[in-house]
Amino acid sequence: MRLDRLLTVEEVMRVAERRVPKMFFQYADSGAYTESSYRANSEDFGKIRLQQRVGVDISTRSLTTTILGRKVTMPLGLAPTGAAGMQSADGEIKAARAAEKFGIPFTLSTVSICSIEDVAAATTTPFWFQLYVRKDREFTGKLIDRAKAAGCGAIVVTMDCQHYGQRHKDVRNGLTVPLKFTPKFVAEMALKPRWALAMLGTRHRTFGNFSGHVPGATTVAQLAEWMGQQDDLTLNWTDLRWVKQRFGGPLVVKGILHPDDAHAAVDAGADAIIVSNHGGRQLDGAPSTIRVLPRIVDAVNGRCEIYLDSGVRSGHDMIKALALGARAVFIGRPFLYGLGAGGEAGVTRVLEIIRAETDSALGLMGVTDITRLGPANIESNDLLR
Ligand code: GLV
Repeated sequence: MRLDRLLTVEEVMRVAERRVPKMFFQYADSGAYTESSYRANSEDFGKIRLQQRVGVDISTRSLTTTILGRKVTMPLGLAPTGAAGMQSADGEIKAARAAEKFGIPFTLSTVSICSIEDVAAATTTPFWFQLYVRKDREFTGKLIDRAKAAGCGAIVVTMDCQHYGQRHKDVRNGLTVPLKFTPKFVAEMALKPRWALAMLGTRHRTFGNFSGHVPGATTVAQLAEWMGQQDDLTLNWTDLRWVKQRFGGPLVVKGILHPDDAHAAVDAGADAIIVSNHGGRQLDGAPSTIRVLPRIVDAVNGRCEIYLDSGVRSGHDMIKALALGARAVFIGRPFLYGLGAGGEAGVTRVLEIIRAETDSALGLMGVTDITRLGPANIESNDLLR
């Protein structure tokens, strides 16, 4: 199968579905409970219309901008996603390399398979690190120190996932840590031999940022037990100052859907916020991110950068978010599907698809510089009221 024959993120997803064990494919392709917010994210993008403008010299077009002061080749980054290394062996390293070569940021999740140090050893430009504040603040502090030592360009604190929204697919698939090698799972391996062989060929098969860093946890089961007790439900705005001070670099706050929370994040020192409903994986019934974005942009009033994730599947979606005030967007599932379909090359293919869509749409909108997008580039509609 040639990756260049895949023309949309949806097509990449279908290939990933064939190649990745169901349990992991569905871990990515799932939302909480009824999945209404998961669906709303994409549906609401679909309701927005772009303004077609003609009679403009569009012979040169620019997609470059800056994110947190660093030049990027397009206003898009790879979002933190748990266990990317289960979509494809060494998935985080592959995705980080694809992002690096493309000239956009990669964000490593706390619950990644490859560790901070693994990704740092495999790349040369700074990646971002996403932090789940754990109950064990000493462990959390050390994670921050490790991200700092690895030269990470920003620390992204996730605020909307202190405990998990239930994803029924995971429960039904028996997704557990450690993995249970049930007959069903073993049969599945036989159907995905390429995936299974690659997995056998790597030593990265557990949670790299935890493994070997939790005193007393020597087996995967002990590690899983410890991790299962670490949700810190006390996390609040005052903790952000500690994170920022300990990291000493830019702080990005993820999981903002309400203007008052945007204010609180800025007051706590956020250099940027990510308007996010965790890809519809947490509060089922939460609004789509594109719907609330204009309110957040008004509330922040230029005091920090604003990014958006959840539901971005195309260059057209990215343009809509930028027109409504986001400085950049982040993608999670699309790059996981890229990993599943073709490893590093699959992620690159997804980025190429989104870049080509963006470039084409900008031209047809009569826009030559992506940083100039604004509300005038979309038709007003009910979604935005
Ligand atoms: C982790 O952040 C997840 O959404 O599964």
